[in-house]
Order: sequence, then structure tokens, then C-alpha cells
Amino acid sequence: MTNKFYSVKPILNKNLKQVYIETYGCQMNVSDSEVVLAVLQSNNYSLCKDINSASLIFINTCSIRENAEQRIWARLEYFRSLKKKKRELKVGILGCMAERLKEKLIDHGVVDIVAGPDSYRHLPKLIEGITKGEKQINTILSEEETYADISPIRMDKNGVSAYISIMRGCNNYCSYCVVPYVRGRERSRNPQSIIKEAKQLLENGYKEVTLLGQNVNSYSWNNSNQHITFAMLLEMVAQIAPSLRVRFSTSHPKDIDESVIKAIVKYPNICKHIHLPVQSGSNTVLKRMNRKYTIEEYLERVKLIKELIPECTLSTDIITGFSGESEQDHQETLSIMKEVGYYTAFMFQYSERPNTTAAKKYPDSVSEQDKNRRLNEIIELQHKLSKISNNEDLGKTFEVLIEGTSKRSKEELSGRTSQNKVCIFPAGEHKVGDYVNVKVTSCSLATLKGVAVN
Ligand code: 5AD
Ligand code: SF4
Repeated sequence: MTNKFYSVKPILNKNLKQVYIETYGCQMNVSDSEVVLAVLQSNNYSLCKDINSASLIFINTCSIRENAEQRIWARLEYFRSLKKKKRELKVGILGCMAERLKEKLIDHGVVDIVAGPDSYRHLPKLIEGITKGEKQINTILSEEETYADISPIRMDKNGVSAYISIMRGCNNYCSYCVVPYVRGRERSRNPQSIIKEAKQLLENGYKEVTLLGQNVNSYSWNNSNQHITFAMLLEMVAQIAPSLRVRFSTSHPKDIDESVIKAIVKYPNICKHIHLPVQSGSNTVLKRMNRKYTIEEYLERVKLIKELIPECTLSTDIITGFSGESEQDHQETLSIMKEVGYYTAFMFQYSERPNTTAAKKYPDSVSEQDKNRRLNEIIELQHKLSKISNNEDLGKTFEVLIEGTSKRSKEELSGRTSQNKVCIFPAGEHKVGDYVNVKVTSCSLATLKGVAVN
């Protein structure tokens, strides 16, 4: 999960009111913004590309680290300047920061609507409320809401890969994490609605779906006579069509089991990549983080994955400088990274979040300087590991799903291998959405380069 800004595709219609949507945070937020757009479109709003033509701006926010929130505050200041120029402009704040800060955001002055992650169905009502001149807040968390019946309006640019949200919320309460407080209890979505959404995407030309949840491995749905697990759901989606690639994110190391690994082995269209956040290489730190696994257990899972799926890549999330992390703990994180050989990682300095268990029980004791240095060491090591992993692919041929043209040259196409590595090659006759076999001839830190061989 990164704090990327995802731009959106406009649907222009001058008779409709124009909404501009900005999304920060994780893939879940991207998926949620697509639900928001579906709700708004059925209420006479259309998406606009130019922020200056919008009568309504929605910003879908993230609270995971303090700097994620700081970015949003800066954006709100920009919206304040837009409002000065255009008095009728309204601003709504959605997502995790809306849920966390509630009326504090209204007090700030710029925001007209505050809507938490479970209140998007009520947006039309909230919009109606502000037209009467009253600021609106809905941050009620639900134990049932999965937006199962809402067909998201895709905002991606490529028309090739799409996210499908399969569950919401989180019950894990990692001590550092704000998510359970801002996204509520874990709940799974009806599998039939998931299958229907995947089939619709396929009919609309999509070639890849990513099943999303905070902890997909604890997906659980009871039909009258059957209990559907994540492994079963994964197989059901994989069976829709061999040409539809299936990915999933995020897996919790304590919950990923053999049945999921076996499903990956069984279906060539389930991608050979697992994102398995380790967070720390030290058992004492993992315990304080309330991760509920030991490094030995984590490595057992990794061993099983490598045995059953030798071609599988692994990626991870790492937090450095968590409360009480010693130099020895840090060294243990570096050593687990080497042992697993991640092909990529999301690496963060610990950021204390208000009201989490860590904020209450464990002082933010590692100095900024140490956090910084340790993060740099982790990044430096990951660069080496990424390079090693990419070098191992030289001379090999991978099936690449083409997602677009390369950023550097229009003559080159860019796609991803099943292992989730970005691969660039000369376009030839190939086009976006095609599968093509590419032989890798060179690589950099983040990409493979090659030539099409079919
Ligand atoms: N500080 C730093 N990183 C965090 N993450 C979650 N909470 C925090 C925090 N308080 C990281 C974890 C998680 C990823 C999405 O963000 O690594 O897996
Ligand atoms: Fe996603 Fe977590 Fe950020 Fe919410 S706080 S947007 S769940 S990363």
C-alpha cells in the first residue's frame, strides 16, 4: 500500500453535475472510490477531469501514517483556495481520515461532507443536506455493509485489470494499526456477487482481477449448506475463464494455508505472486506488534510456498523503528529479508497513530535518526535483493499481460508477468490486453526488459 494519487477517467456530460474524485491510500480506497462513483452517477453526477469545472470535490483519504494525513491537510488548503474563487463549490472528505477525525474536519472550515467508509450509500442524502446549507457527517460503521449489490464504475485507465473488493474491515488489531478503528469489523461479501462482478469484467474485456481485502485469507461465507473459504472462492474465480488472471491482496502470514497455496498451483491463471507482510524479523517486536506469528512460523509458510510453487515471487511490508526495536531486532529484519529474498517491498518508518494499542502501551521510543538510518539500510538491502531476483529472470520467457505503453517510449509496451514484475518490450503488432511471451534480455531494479517471442 502506497500513498499514490490515482487519476481518473472523465465521463463528460454537460447536463450532469460535475464531481471530481481524488483517491489516496491503498487499493481498497481505489476500489471504494469506484463504488462512490457508481452511487453518484445514479444520482445525476458525472466525473470530471478538470478540478476547476467541478461543483463537488471528493477526497478519499488514508490515515495509516501521519504523513498520509498531512498530505490530505495540504490538499484541503488547496481546496480552500478553490472555494474562495468559486463560492458554490462543495468539498467532501471520504474514507479512513473521515472516519478517524469526524467533526474535527468540519471544524476546519473547508469541508462540507464527512463520510466514513461504510456510509457511501448515503452520499446522495448527504449532498442533499448540504444544498440546504447544513454541513453533513456520517461516520457510522456497519457490521454488514459490503456494497455487494453496487457495480463499481471503473476509474482505471487501461481496461485490462480491475480490483474486486471481497471483504471489508479488519479484526486483527495489530498494535500499530489504525485500520480496525477506521474500517470496522471484518465482514465478507457474498461469493455470488463477487463471481458476477468478475464475469461482467471479463465480458467488458478485462483480463485480470485482483481480489481485495485487509486479510483475504480469513474470507468466510456460510451458504445454507456450505462454508466458502478463501481458497474455495479463489478457485471459483479462477474457473470463470482460463484467460482471466486472478491476483489477491493482502495475505496475513498467520492465516495463509496450504489450501490457498494448492489452489495457486492448480490454476495456471492464478498469479504466482504472494504479498506476505512480515513487518519485522524479530520475534520480540512481532509480539509487541500483536502479529500472532513467530518468524519460525512465517518461514515455514515461505518454505511451503517455495516447495510447492518454485516460480512464485514474494513481496512484503516492513515497519522499521517500532517501539522498543533494538539494533539486534533491526539486524534480524535485515536477515529475514535476505533469507526470503523478496523481489520487492513496501518499507516504512513507524508512525504512531492515536488511540491504537501501541500509542497507549508502547512509547514511540526509537529516535527519528535511528528510524531513518535503519530504513535506509532496509531500502539499500531491498534494492540488492530486487536486482538479484531480476537477474535470475535473464534468459527466461514469461507470459506478459500488456497493460499499456511504456512511460519512456511509445514504441514499447508494458505489462506484468504472473510474478507481478513489470516487463517492457518492443511493441511490434501487439496491443493492450494481449498476452504475449517475452524473453527477458536485460533488467533494472524495478523492471524486466525483453523481446516478444511468439
Ligand atoms: N506506521 C508505519 N507503517 C504502518 N503500516 C501500518 N500501520 C503503520 C504505522 N502505524 C504499514 C504496515 C502495513 C502497511 C499497509 O502499512 O506495513 O502492512
Ligand atoms: Fe487503506 Fe489503511 Fe490507508 Fe485506510 S488507513 S486507506 S485501509 S491503507
